[in-house]
Amino acid sequence: MAESNVRLGHLPSIKSRSEFVSVDRAVEILRAGGLVALPTETVYGLAADADNELAVRKIFALKGRPAAHPLIVHLGDVQQLSHWAREIPKAAEQLAAAFWPGPLTLVLPKQPRVLDIITGGQDTVALRIPNHDLALQVLREFGGGLAAPSANKFGRLSPTTAQHVMSELGDGVDLVFDGGPCAVGVESTIVDLSSGAPSLLRPGGIPKEQIEALLGLKLGTAASQVRAPGTLASHYAPRAGLVLTTQDKLADEAAQRDLWGASVAVLSVQKPALPESIAYFALPHDPADAARTLYATLRNIDAQGFDVIVAVLPPETGLGLAVRDRLTRAAAPRDSVK
Ligand code: TXA
Ligand code: MG
Repeated sequence: MAESNVRLGHLPSIKSRSEFVSVDRAVEILRAGGLVALPTETVYGLAADADNELAVRKIFALKGRPAAHPLIVHLGDVQQLSHWAREIPKAAEQLAAAFWPGPLTLVLPKQPRVLDIITGGQDTVALRIPNHDLALQVLREFGGGLAAPSANKFGRLSPTTAQHVMSELGDGVDLVFDGGPCAVGVESTIVDLSSGAPSLLRPGGIPKEQIEALLGLKLGTAASQVRAPGTLASHYAPRAGLVLTTQDKLADEAAQRDLWGASVAVLSVQKPALPESIAYFALPHDPADAARTLYATLRNIDAQGFDVIVAVLPPETGLGLAVRDRLTRAAAPRDSVK
C-alpha cells in the first residue's frame, strides 16, 4: 500500500475540502485493510476494520502487543451497539446516553459474530464512541466498527499528538491523521457491565464519581478474570525510571539520586526547593489539566534524557484518579510487563 503512505498536516476543524478528502482517504485505507492513526479526545488510536482479522493482526504486529489482549471497538453511532453487544443492560443505556460520544468504554456481552482477535477469546467486547470530530467523521463514513488501541508500542506512553505517533510508529502506519493535541489526554474510563455489579476496570477520562452519581451505586473494582493490559502493573511507562514519594520527602529523595550521579526530574503539583542540578516539571493543579498534559510531559522528560523521575501523586478527585493510576503503573517494576 505504498501510495497510501500519505502524511497529512494539521487540519482545521471546519469542514474544508481537504478535510473531506482526508476523511475519504482514511476510509478507503480502512476498507482496504490498512492502518490509520486517528485522533480521539483521549489519545491517538491505531485503527483498523474490526471485522477484518488480517487488518486487526497488523495492529498487534505493529504495537508488539501480546495476542490475547483484547481491543476496544470504536463506533460512530449508538444505534450500532446491538450489532456488537448481545445484551444491553439499562446501566449501559444510561451511561451511553450521558457520556457518549466521550471518554467512556463499556464492556458488554459480545455478539457471536465478534472476532476472537478483538475480544481475546472472551465472551465480552469493549465499546466506545469517541468525542472527536475527525474520528466521528471517519467512523460514520466507514460505517462499521474500528478496533483502535492507543497508537504506541506495547507498554509505552500513549500518544497525545500526531507527532508522537509519527516518532514511535512512523512508517508502519498507512496514514497518520493529525487532529491536533488530544483534549482529555488520558485513555477512556472502562466500566464492566458484562456480569453482575458494574465495576471499574480502568480509571480514565470520565471521573468515577460522575458514573457512580448517574448509576446511583458505587463501582466495584476490576474482576480479576478479565484481561486488560492497561491493568498490568507496569504500563504507560516512560524510558526514565519513575519513583513515587510524598511531598515532604520529595526534595530529599531527588537530592539523594542527584548525589548518586543520576540526572533527576521532579514531577509534582507543588514545587519544592531544589538544587539547580535538578529539573522541575509542574503537574498542573487542576486534575483535568494534569491529565491533558501528563503524557506529553513524560515524553518531554524522556526527550531530555533524564535517568529518573521523582514524582508525587496528585489527589484522587476527578481525573486525578486516572493520573495517579498511570503514574503508579509507570513506577511499577518494568519486568512485570508480560
Ligand atoms: O481512550 C481509549 O480508550 C483509547 C483510545 C484510542 O480510544 N484506547 C485505548 O486502547 O486505550 P488500549 O488497547 O490501549 O486499551 C484498551 C483497554 C485494555 O486495557 C483492554 O484490555 C481493555 O481495554 N479491554 C478491551 N476489551 C476488553 C474486554 N472484553 N474486557 C475487558 N477489558 C477489555
Ligand atoms: Mg494503550
